[in-house]
Amino acid sequence: MTAQPSASPELTGARGGVFAAAKVLTALFVLGALVSFFLAGLGTFGLSGPVDDAAASSSLNPHRMLGEILFALALLILVLVAIARPGGRALKLAAALFVLMLVQYGLGQAGAGVHVLGGLHALNALFVTGAAFGLASATGALRKPH
Ligand code: HEM
Repeated sequence: MTAQPSASPELTGARGGVFAAAKVLTALFVLGALVSFFLAGLGTFGLSGPVDDAAASSSLNPHRMLGEILFALALLILVLVAIARPGGRALKLAAALFVLMLVQYGLGQAGAGVHVLGGLHALNALFVTGAAFGLASATGALRKPH
């Protein structure tokens, strides 16, 4: 039987360590993206009083805070993947994830003023999550180590 090419190349030395760190952070990002949806819902149902401005509500603070962490995480993952160089597909997905998070941040900030941008923020969350799962699949981040 012929060996199948591995989706997560065996990198050794410093690059291997950097790649391992990128995989752990990618797995954390996937989890964080899913939790973000939960916190957005929790914050929305937790709005209290005569609320007509989501930006003024503290019930969305946990979601905002996690969003900022995920933004920093996406940048860190991109840097680590660029250093480890595990392959073009992983680098493209890490770059896409960072750009989508940049857009997500901007839409999140602008959404309270221009509601259609808030709608696009919710829609773009699906693309962010898709890119994170794609990167996890390309790097083997969600695979059990053997
Ligand atoms: C992958 C999923 C998501 C990520 C990574 C994410 C990320 C973010 C970020 C970075 C911010 C801006 C934080 C800041 O201004 O300091 C934000 C704000 C916000 N997000 Fe999300 N988000 C996600 C999903 C959603 C969903 C599904 C909804 C609603 C359906 C939502 C609703 C909001 C709201 C209402 C705000 C606050 C806007 C404001 O402060 O004016 N988010 N999010």
